[in-house]
Amino acid sequence: MHALKGVSFDIEPGEFFGLLGPNGAGKTTLISVLAGLTRASAGRVLVHGKNVQTDYQAARRQLGVVPQELVFDPFFNVREALRFQSGYFGVRHNEAWIDELLEGLGLADKAGANMRQLSGGMKRRVLVAQALVHKPPVIVLDEPTAGVDVELRQTLWQFVSDLNKRQGCTVLLTTHYLEEAEALCGRIAMLRQGQVVALESTSELLRRASSNVLRFKTDQTLPDDLAAVARVTGRVVQLPAHDALEVERILARARESGVLAQDIEIRKADLEDVFIDVMENAAHAQGARA
Ligand SMILES: Nc1ncnc2c1ncn2[C@@H]1O[C@H](COP(=O)(O)OP(=O)(O)OP(=O)(O)O)[C@@H](O)[C@H]1O
Ligand SMILES: [Mg+2]
Repeated sequence: MHALKGVSFDIEPGEFFGLLGPNGAGKTTLISVLAGLTRASAGRVLVHGKNVQTDYQAARRQLGVVPQELVFDPFFNVREALRFQSGYFGVRHNEAWIDELLEGLGLADKAGANMRQLSGGMKRRVLVAQALVHKPPVIVLDEPTAGVDVELRQTLWQFVSDLNKRQGCTVLLTTHYLEEAEALCGRIAMLRQGQVVALESTSELLRRASSNVLRFKTDQTLPDDLAAVARVTGRVVQLPAHDALEVERILARARESGVLAQDIEIRKADLEDVFIDVMENAAHAQGARA
């Protein structure tokens, strides 16, 4: 069993690229191969032309990686951790940038705090600052917003978007928040069981979706024919509906089976709809091959 198999794509300089996939798809594995932490048994990865295996130091210097796991040195305070990381990359006289990072990530009043005393979300902020401390041209974020409050999410995206737009940094992002990916990423790869099952611009992916989704709330159980195509989350029911006629047909069908639909809405399909579609199709295709 390979964690990754036949994965091959290029990310252009300056791109904001999304890597999506269910738990265990291989996203973190791909990132650790990229960061030179895991050796691929075959194939090669280049970062700005530098091979991550044969030219590790040079390739690693190009990258700022925010890991999915919260790893930190418990003996440092926040500023020391950032200085240490700077030193690791041979960057001296970095205090101004460290201050900017602390300020920008809402850590200014925590600079002297010991890493152990920080909350989970605060530790995550430090990891982001650590990844950026040597001003890498390529930023890799492995679920940076997991367990992070609304305010930091906004701050973080503002900060990273700025680096992308103003400094031309390349960004590779994994997230399970698909509305984040939809808002931020210009292009997206979807992984399933270690294989790329979609690779397109975000707008292209969205165009592929069935155009509309009918959404309503109900306390009743759907008839089997509707249940087979519906996404149900608690009281919320969502069904693909291409046009007004189909909306009418679904609602009539619900009514005749005693389902009372409340708070009816029609919305455009979003990346989450596309993702579910892609994964279902891939499951059929990969299942058929296995
Ligand atoms: N150190 C390891 N040794 C063996 N198998 C591993 C190791 N780390 C991960 N795997 C396996 O590799 C596969 C891909 O894992 P990976 O962590 O890359 O998934 P992921 O896409 O990042 O998932 P998540 O969304 O949960 O973070 C999984 O089947 C996992 O069990
Ligand atoms: Mg992961």
